[in-house]
Amino acid sequence: MRGVVVYSAPAKVYLSGEHAVVYNKRAVAVGIDLRTTVRLERSDNFHYQTNADTRYLEEAVNAFSSIKAVDGVEIKVESEIPVGAGLGSSAAVTVATLGALNEEFDANLSKEDIAKLAFEVERSIQGVASPTDTFVSTMGGCVLVPDLLRIQDTLDCAIVIGDTRTVGSTKKLVQAVKELRSSEPEVIDLIFDAIDRITAAVIEWLEAADYKRLGMLMNINHGLLDAIGVGSLELSALVDGARSHGAYGAKITGAGGGGCIVAICEAKKVAQVVEGIEEAGGKAIVADVSGDGLRKVVG
Ligand code: MEV
Repeated sequence: MRGVVVYSAPAKVYLSGEHAVVYNKRAVAVGIDLRTTVRLERSDNFHYQTNADTRYLEEAVNAFSSIKAVDGVEIKVESEIPVGAGLGSSAAVTVATLGALNEEFDANLSKEDIAKLAFEVERSIQGVASPTDTFVSTMGGCVLVPDLLRIQDTLDCAIVIGDTRTVGSTKKLVQAVKELRSSEPEVIDLIFDAIDRITAAVIEWLEAADYKRLGMLMNINHGLLDAIGVGSLELSALVDGARSHGAYGAKITGAGGGGCIVAICEAKKVAQVVEGIEEAGGKAIVADVSGDGLRKVVG
């Protein structure tokens, strides 16, 4: 009897490329320091305690059981990540659960193995999914998808998230974009190509730490997400609130429809940007990049 094993994994935001990444275009995402913590111990049965969807826990245990037999576990989840807000809460819970199972059942999985397994779990539940959320949540830092490369550890500017407190269904939004693409393939593919070019430039300005240009690219990316129909009045209001209060740039993050925007700004402008988002009706969350992805929680 080894007692409780505790692991945590972070949320993420997209600097560019959501939706286009589903069609193999490039995207850059960043792990942020909102985390989900999973406490796991062996048990004679399966008990799951979470405020969110238990399917991710069940499916993570099922997928892991194909590697090592699991007779029974008790899993308790605590999370700082809003659910259904496009911040990758389901990936974080899946990754943290697999991390804890890996240790408790001595499976010797690498982080790459865990990221892959977590992606399979997400895909089996959501249908269509890119490996972005599960990879960032496992590795942390700034990552390039679909290459699955960690391109940078951190950003030298502030990140402010604006939560509309409305929920968007990733599955439905991905489906709606698919239908739009079937009806206007040439137009939508040009938009995806443009988003891919934005990501190429995002990589360049990230490396050069030119956050003004990075912000400008985020603004353009936001316009293109609006163009493919995943915006909302609430999301636009928060984007405008952040920009008019001094952000370098702001855009939808994640599937859209509801959920969150992400803004970047100078450290000295954080309070102003928070005010802009809250005046526009959102909940502001100031976040740091999480250089750590999946990690063991000790003590
Ligand atoms: C959802 O957070 C982002 C999408 O690109 C879907 C995905 O990448 O799985 C819309």
